[in-house]
Amino acid sequence: MRKSQWISAICILTAAIIIGSCKTKFDTTKSNFTVSRSDAALEHGRVLVYSICGGCHYDQSVNKFIGTRIHEVPGIVGKVYSANLTNSKSNGIPPHYSDAELKYLLKTGIARDGRFIPYMLRPNMADEDLNDIIVYLRSNDPAVASADTTIGISHLTWIGKMAMNMMAKPLPYKSDIKRPPESDSIAAGRYLVDNIGCFHCHSKSLTKLNYLDPEQSKEYMAGGMKFKTPQGIEIYASNLTPDKQTGIGNYNRLQFVKAVKYGESPRGKLHPPMPKFNRLNDSDVDVMYAYLRSIPAKYHKVQGH
Ligand code: HEC
Ligand code: HEC
Repeated sequence: MRKSQWISAICILTAAIIIGSCKTKFDTTKSNFTVSRSDAALEHGRVLVYSICGGCHYDQSVNKFIGTRIHEVPGIVGKVYSANLTNSKSNGIPPHYSDAELKYLLKTGIARDGRFIPYMLRPNMADEDLNDIIVYLRSNDPAVASADTTIGISHLTWIGKMAMNMMAKPLPYKSDIKRPPESDSIAAGRYLVDNIGCFHCHSKSLTKLNYLDPEQSKEYMAGGMKFKTPQGIEIYASNLTPDKQTGIGNYNRLQFVKAVKYGESPRGKLHPPMPKFNRLNDSDVDVMYAYLRSIPAKYHKVQGH
């Protein structure tokens, strides 16, 4: 064999050993959790599901949570489709899950069949919010009413499988978490930046996130993560620390609300994947604004901003 063939053979063997040693099935939950329904829970659950799950599971062409292709995943990793979250018995996921299993998936990343799904990961989410999310998913709201559409089955290349294993591991199950009161605006804002997942995109890299303690993520909220729109345009997430030159230290409350809810920033119209969080209450956006003004300012000039 020539030198290059040896190198390829060694690479393939190493990859096979790494993939082989990666655990692919994990223990599932034995805990009990049953939701309690109310009109308030349903309303709040709708806001949470649109704001937290919408970016990956909502198809705007049909106004339903039937799942989408995650375009940000590069081809070398594979093709990733999210799941159908409607109440379809054939293709929807929620009818096949118990309340406890849904809660466990969202907190740890472990699906009911023991697979690890590294996209949701909300270990610090309060029980009341999980309750409301599940109440909404099981409701007869048109956006989650049964739709049998299947948009595609995810397929990862071996590079993708290795990358996913390096990116995240199942998280410890922490239950009985309470949501901070709105009167403590900094804690309430920190909670939302964590649980809506703003820090996932607005920090250095998906592989350097700390889900259990978000503020320990590399370059937390200082921006720079690179994305591609479905049209192939490169977009970099903004620095949301209070630095006046490179962050949002000069934004007033109204400018921040407009950027977060309607995608209109003082820099102009914002591109995807920045979601339009137009269902959030202004008070939710206010507490995030208060919190983001309280974190350390970081000078970090983002490309193109
Ligand atoms: C960053 C993107 C992203 C976000 C945000 C997200 N999901 Fe997902 N979700 C995915 C992807 C991708 C899959 C499919 C993974 C696979 O099977 O390859 C998935 C799968 C699922 C599944 C199916 C599990 C199974 O057994 O196959 C459920 C249920 C689910 N998500 C619920 C939610 C809920 C509820 C939210 C909001 C609280 C949410 N997701 C937020 C990307 C996301
Ligand atoms: C899926 C990734 C993603 C998520 C989640 C996300 N953002 Fe963004 N955000 C971006 C990107 C990318 C940009 C830059 C868009 C552009 O330049 O056109 C941006 C821009 C912004 C801006 C505009 C700042 C400026 O440069 O003028 C604000 C404010 C903002 N995001 C706040 C938030 C908040 C608050 C949350 C959570 C509630 C959040 N973002 C969640 C990706 C994301």
